Amino acid sequence: MTRLLTSLILACTPMIAAAVQPGAPPLNASDNRIAIMVGSQERAHVLAEMRTFLQGLHNIFHALARKDMKAVAVESRPLGRILHRMPEGMRERLPLAYVEMGLGLHEVFDVIARDAEAKADPSVTLSQLAEAMTYCSGCHDTYRLQVGRVTGVK
Ligand code: HEC
Repeated sequence: MTRLLTSLILACTPMIAAAVQPGAPPLNASDNRIAIMVGSQERAHVLAEMRTFLQGLHNIFHALARKDMKAVAVESRPLGRILHRMPEGMRERLPLAYVEMGLGLHEVFDVIARDAEAKADPSVTLSQLAEAMTYCSGCHDTYRLQVGRVTGVK
């Protein structure tokens, strides 16, 4: 297994090298995003919810590729509720725009679930997914979490 992995990595090295060759635009690594102060458990909670979003999208795309609209609805519905499980007191400390993007995303997932059942049209779902991902990247471009001392929070 290890040998297989090693040879795979070796086989891919020229491709990886080609991907970072001059010619590709340089990645702007400076981070100007707004920091949101959180406790370490709050950060762990948010990141776990985020991975649920990513996993959920993954499942939705697979369901969509099979044109299984029932499964699209089943996968989307819980994603519309994630923010409601936020740790006590955290919501009041979040910037308004952050909360709005979070709520906007939840609404889109609710609509995706509803329309997947009512309209069962994959092209409608696809454009709604594109809208959902506008929230993902809008928020990621704007905010980052920073663990620090927050009164009364672990
Ligand atoms: C309202 C804001 C917001 C929205 C909307 C949002 N995220 Fe995030 N997400 C964050 C923040 C903040 C982080 C932490 C970034 C950091 O600290 O660098 C994060 C981190 C993540 C991570 C990294 C998780 C980890 O374990 O490190 C993933 C994956 C992720 N988001 C997926 C998504 C997906 C997919 C969507 C859309 C379906 C989404 N997020 C929507 C705010 C948001």
